[in-house]
Amino acid sequence: MRILFTGGSGKAGREVIPYLIERGHSVMNVDLKPLDLPGVDNITADITDSGQIFNAASMYANFGELEPGTGVPRFDAVVHFAAIARILLTPDNECYRVNVIGTYNVLEAALKLGVRKVVIASSETTYGVCFADGEKKPLYLPVDEDHPTVPEDSYGMSKVVNEVTARSFAERTGADVYALRINNVMSPEDYARDWPAYFANPDLRRRNIFSYIDARDLGQIVDLCLHKDGLGYQVFNAANDGMSVALTPEEVVARYYEGVELREPPGNWTTPYSNRKIREVLGFEEQHPWTRYVNP
Ligand SMILES: NC(=O)c1ccc[n+]([C@@H]2O[C@H](COP(=O)([O-])OP(=O)(O)OC[C@H]3O[C@@H](n4cnc5c(N)ncnc54)[C@H](O)[C@@H]3O)[C@@H](O)[C@H]2O)c1
Repeated sequence: MRILFTGGSGKAGREVIPYLIERGHSVMNVDLKPLDLPGVDNITADITDSGQIFNAASMYANFGELEPGTGVPRFDAVVHFAAIARILLTPDNECYRVNVIGTYNVLEAALKLGVRKVVIASSETTYGVCFADGEKKPLYLPVDEDHPTVPEDSYGMSKVVNEVTARSFAERTGADVYALRINNVMSPEDYARDWPAYFANPDLRRRNIFSYIDARDLGQIVDLCLHKDGLGYQVFNAANDGMSVALTPEEVVARYYEGVELREPPGNWTTPYSNRKIREVLGFEEQHPWTRYVNP
């Protein structure tokens, strides 16, 4: 597929784009800064400027595309990752502005130009646990896609609004728009550096509901979304199968989730952040469990 990928120069995109290229897709990365990776076409553009995004989405991606003499090819899909990727990077209102206006612009350009598949990066923070003031527990466990999304912070709010925008564009156009509620992204180098602290102090993972997503496995999820047609608007939790601490689900419930409704016994889950939907609907099979990279 010919894919327009926004925000591909960031932490997640740096691993997801190589995964897509290895599987034969061609990728044009639209970001404020280029991704230095063989095979990727880069266009510098700002998602908050609708004109730039409409234009990027209707351009040749490289010199080779001039050769057939058949005009500008259409993108088969858009993967939208560009964002201010958490609170405390910019003032709160700037995070909200970039994420909400930027996502509106990307969705509008993609769908008005006739793209029929858009995958957008939403977030675990929509569930309100991650950036809460003090400790906030999920309403029930495991946290699946039906759990209410009432965050308190501007980043989480922006992602909830983006899901609403995505749903409305899917309704208007009949296109497939899939929103990934991505858990905490792990790059290959993170395991050795960060995980010993997680094993020593599981409190560090409470705000991530004790889960994670390997950036390469996120690539697999994106690729599966690109190949799965006809679902209309969907949200998917994006997480690996396992815990990001050296505790079992039962031990985590006993230690952290007293009083929280258990919709299934913890022995049935692999993590309190359910990834059942990506496994059952998309066929996700994790390739990069943390056990391959670090030993508690
Ligand atoms: N990293 C995580 O743990 C995590 C978790 C959940 C969701 N997400 C979401 O996944 C996506 C990717 O996250 P990441 O960790 O790679 O973030 P990142 O900050 O590393 O990368 C984001 C990219 O977006 C680009 N960008 C920002 N503003 C832009 C603009 N106005 N125009 C064009 N490009 C712009 C940046 O230059 C950067 O390359 C984001 O939407 C983020 O909100 C990330």
